[in-house]
Amino acid sequence: MTEKLSNEELSKLPFMNSNLDLEKRVEDLLGRLTLKEKFKLSSGTQFFYTKPIKRLGIPNFKMTDGPHGIGPHSSNNSECTYFPVGVCRAATWNPELSEQFGVAAGQEVRDIGYHMLLGPGINIQRAPHCGRNFEYQTEDPYLNSRLAVPCVKGIQSQQIAACVKHYACNNQETNRFTCNSVVSERALQEIYLPGFKATVCEADAWSFMTCYNKVNGVYGSEHKNLIKQRLMEKWDFRGFVVSDWTATQHVKNTESCVEAGLSLEMPTAIKYKYKSMMDALNEGKFTEEMLNENIRRLLRVMFLTGIFDDPSTIPPGSRNTLEHQAVARKIAEEGIVLLKNEDNLLPLDINSIKKIAVVGPNANKKMSRGGGSSQVKPPYEIKPIEGIQEKCKGKIEIVSTPSEADVVIYVGGLNHRPHKDSEGADRKRFNLTSTHINRLNETIQENPKTIVVLISGSPIGMDWIDKVPAVIEAWYPGMEGGNAIASVLFGDVNPSGKLPITFPKKLEDSPAQIVKDLEVNYDDGIFVGYRYFDTNNIEPLFPFGHGLSYTTFTYDNLKISKDKVSGDETVKVSVDITNSGSRTGAEVVQLYVQDVDCSVERPLKELKGFKKIKLEPGAKETINLELGKEDLSFYDEKSGGWKVEPGKFNILVGSSSRDIRLQGKIEYL
Ligand code: BGC
Repeated sequence: MTEKLSNEELSKLPFMNSNLDLEKRVEDLLGRLTLKEKFKLSSGTQFFYTKPIKRLGIPNFKMTDGPHGIGPHSSNNSECTYFPVGVCRAATWNPELSEQFGVAAGQEVRDIGYHMLLGPGINIQRAPHCGRNFEYQTEDPYLNSRLAVPCVKGIQSQQIAACVKHYACNNQETNRFTCNSVVSERALQEIYLPGFKATVCEADAWSFMTCYNKVNGVYGSEHKNLIKQRLMEKWDFRGFVVSDWTATQHVKNTESCVEAGLSLEMPTAIKYKYKSMMDALNEGKFTEEMLNENIRRLLRVMFLTGIFDDPSTIPPGSRNTLEHQAVARKIAEEGIVLLKNEDNLLPLDINSIKKIAVVGPNANKKMSRGGGSSQVKPPYEIKPIEGIQEKCKGKIEIVSTPSEADVVIYVGGLNHRPHKDSEGADRKRFNLTSTHINRLNETIQENPKTIVVLISGSPIGMDWIDKVPAVIEAWYPGMEGGNAIASVLFGDVNPSGKLPITFPKKLEDSPAQIVKDLEVNYDDGIFVGYRYFDTNNIEPLFPFGHGLSYTTFTYDNLKISKDKVSGDETVKVSVDITNSGSRTGAEVVQLYVQDVDCSVERPLKELKGFKKIKLEPGAKETINLELGKEDLSFYDEKSGGWKVEPGKFNILVGSSSRDIRLQGKIEYL
């Protein structure tokens, strides 16, 4: 049974027949594996591969970071497109762009001959100081889901597995290997799990990566409740679960991982060493059927990615193409958020300005190669100053002294050094460093017409904000970032990004902080981000959903299809949006629901719908959204299920969570 087969013999085996039903191929191959080979497949090699089983022609299944492009550390130093980071993608509020990113990233993974992308990262941005916020999307579970689903679909459209990470409650980097996220069932259901669930139920995600931390006392890689019971049994996940790299180092033992449903231990065997596996099996600590099920899942994904198929029958892959660079630029342009624009200082008029000074610590800085496992090595990266120089070429002189300039662009913010926006450590300060604040203040003194462009993946304290007329949040905008920033500054692009997170005035205002103890109590419960600020009436610096435009939009004619609903009925909500300004622009129409009277505490409002539309000046469009029972429900800890209570609900439609333009109501009977 275990002798090596010739290529010809192999090619005749049922699992090699691509016309055969997928599950039959999986069972055929599984049935041919020896126990030893199953053990071998359970852990990785060379940091990013599974081990090959040469006898059966099973090659290495190859995985690569990361969430905004392929990482050189995981791809033999490959050059790849550097896309804007997750929070920038989320700030576009554009699911189509999420999908385009997914398609492009999938094509790049295919092009380097790999099979799985270690992303998207969709942990909720709970605490402003979390070092990996830049990789993640948002503080809101609804927005998280709506953007993660098309991203996973896009990646997998290329027969590349998405690996949704880090499951779950990996919301800080401090003590990430050992801390325990203590979180209520309601917060799990309403805040932390919906994004993960959506990628399975709506996008058929083929893989999940566990978190390093414990969730309610149990490490992610041995979390039977999270993996087996929820992900697999409740959500019907057909893919496989991989540990975060070395995440199994502190788990109880081999059998707890096997039993929980961990198929693959990465990057190498710790708990899944041959002897540990054999001993545990012999001692009856797990059954071979449990192991089979874990291996079956891994094999299924191998088949899904076409690893055993004729390469000419699978999507071909491509990398560093103009199309991918255009996607990177589009995401940057749509993700940049105009936070403040006093007296319409922006956009700058290229014809009337003579001299511009471009200063600040991030003006001339590349950002692709930092931050930890999400680093990328692009063939080029347009720095902010380069984008502005290119735009101004032959028209505006770039000077270095602010006092000489008609207008100053100060590019500051954070970077990917440890304790900034970076993996493995959280931020230490909310404000810019005192050196940078001094530099900014000096610049403002020299020339008050200073526009601040922030490069960051998380909110920054802005004590200086009243002194500057305009602020742009550009995030980490990828390899086309400098061009995208220039396009926005000079009005070639009308900004349409909206904040996917709340920007607090001061750190203490935020409901959650980084915790140094090993016990991280999520005592903010469901009151994460704007849910907390709104309910407690704390004014943020910039609210969730905020983002200005160079044009204006009016909201009229809110229509709600019925005022009373019951059972599973849905309600149609429509609203007319008019571009009432003089430039073409895009608006993100946001729909929030407010439960007027409830037996349990609920947030003042919750996002339950949105739509981004582009309108020419004067143009009007009717936006149609729909609300279902689940949009009115909360997770009821008493009954252990989702519940909607009869009573009134306000329907709020607006341009941000704190700029509600129209309001109506319905009653749930
Ligand atoms: C990170 C993961 C990453 C993995 C492989 C871990 O340290 O947490 O996000 O995919 O390394 O590089």
